[in-house]
Amino acid sequence: MKITPLNAPFGVEFSDFDVREMTDEDMAIVQTEQNKHGVIFFRDQNLTPDEHIRFAKRWGEIVINRFFERVPGYEEIAQVRKEPQHERVVGEDWHTDHSYDEAPARGSILYAREVPSSGGDTLFANMYLAYEALSDGLKDTLAGLKAWHSSRHVFSKEAIDATRSNEDRFQNHGQAVQDSLHPVVITHPLSGRKSLYVNPDFTRQFDGWTLEESRPLLEYLYNHVQQDQFIARFKWRTDSIAFWDNRATWHQAQNDYPNQRRLMHRITLEGVRLTA
Ligand code: SIN
Repeated sequence: MKITPLNAPFGVEFSDFDVREMTDEDMAIVQTEQNKHGVIFFRDQNLTPDEHIRFAKRWGEIVINRFFERVPGYEEIAQVRKEPQHERVVGEDWHTDHSYDEAPARGSILYAREVPSSGGDTLFANMYLAYEALSDGLKDTLAGLKAWHSSRHVFSKEAIDATRSNEDRFQNHGQAVQDSLHPVVITHPLSGRKSLYVNPDFTRQFDGWTLEESRPLLEYLYNHVQQDQFIARFKWRTDSIAFWDNRATWHQAQNDYPNQRRLMHRITLEGVRLTA
């Protein structure tokens, strides 16, 4: 097993390592690196959908995303697909998966099946580093706050129709009814570190504040997070895996490969209720 830091403020790549043969000792090393970095990567894997599922189950229960199309024959695997004719890519706004759920997904395991000849990278933001860089005064203010996260304005039929024409990649719009309240600063359930837990896609407003009152502080935090010192870029190759912790990172798929196809398989792992 070789572990190489990304050319970025955080993130490591595992190579010379077949995730199908991961021992308990390997798993402990991988978990330690993920606790440190929020996101880790594996190169040159060769997984069937069943092996992808088996790898995911080593980490816990799988939670099925209600809104993404599924890989045919595999309920547990969401398909993240862009065809040449699609103008939007799935996940092109900064977000963290499932924050609209009461117990948001612990992590996501994204496997590259087909990548464009150039472009299609994924950016990650590290929410430990972003939190740690805030002033003590702002940390104190945020410590007392909770925020509402929702799926309605993203996955409902009206929301999809408003942003995409002829969209064929999402389903179950009628189930976009979740609103969940989470602390704005969480104590990460595995690493014990403090992490900033709001995101541009799903967070709506602070609890007890109006949308208008919430927007300026949320915008401040979003701009703060998107500074270079908190961002890592991952360049995909076919058969690479990104395994991120949703409580410690945001991610954003790049929409810069018009008229090309990209196909990823994503499995999401069940999480726990978050606490301050
Ligand atoms: C996602 O948001 O889960 C997909 C990210 C990507 O395709 O790069």
